[in-house]
Amino acid sequence: MDLTLLRKFHAFILIVVIISLCASTGFSFETHVYMTNNLGDNTIIYLHCLKNFEEMGHQQIPYHWTCQWWFRVTYPGLLLCEANVQGAKQLQFLAYNTSKNTCRGDCHWNFTQQGVFQNLNGEWKLQYKWPH
Ligand SMILES: *[C@@H]1O[C@H](CO)[C@@H](O)[C@H](O)[C@H]1NC(C)=O
Ligand SMILES: *[C@@H]1O[C@H](CO)[C@@H](O)[C@H](O)[C@H]1NC(C)=O
Repeated sequence: MDLTLLRKFHAFILIVVIISLCASTGFSFETHVYMTNNLGDNTIIYLHCLKNFEEMGHQQIPYHWTCQWWFRVTYPGLLLCEANVQGAKQLQFLAYNTSKNTCRGDCHWNFTQQGVFQNLNGEWKLQYKWPH
């Protein structure tokens, strides 16, 4: 190996190290989005989510249960979900938007008869009403 090639190789290694350090500190982090069924006895919420139009799958939440969506955040990043419950039309909602720092790391959603609440700084805020 001649010397210039070796220098290039060293520079390449340095860049790889810097990128992986950034990745572990700030560029990407894990997010957990929790959704709780508080609709009432014998209810089930059928959820389907997409993250940046990529399939995240389907989940069913019985009364008093919480489901979790886990992913590595990318910029920009959107978690779009559909919720189906008995007695309402399908609700489409934005469960997570990386460009808004409303909830970093952990996000909590609470499904009630009154609508869908999000926990923002410790308070439940109504974000969506059930469409009829
Ligand atoms: C996500 O948040 C950004 C910054 O507030 C906003 O401009 C953008 O419209 C939001 N995306 C959606 C789909 O609401
Ligand atoms: C869900 O939201 C309702 C309505 O604001 C609130 O009374 C209740 O404590 C919340 N429950 C949970 C488990 O998040």
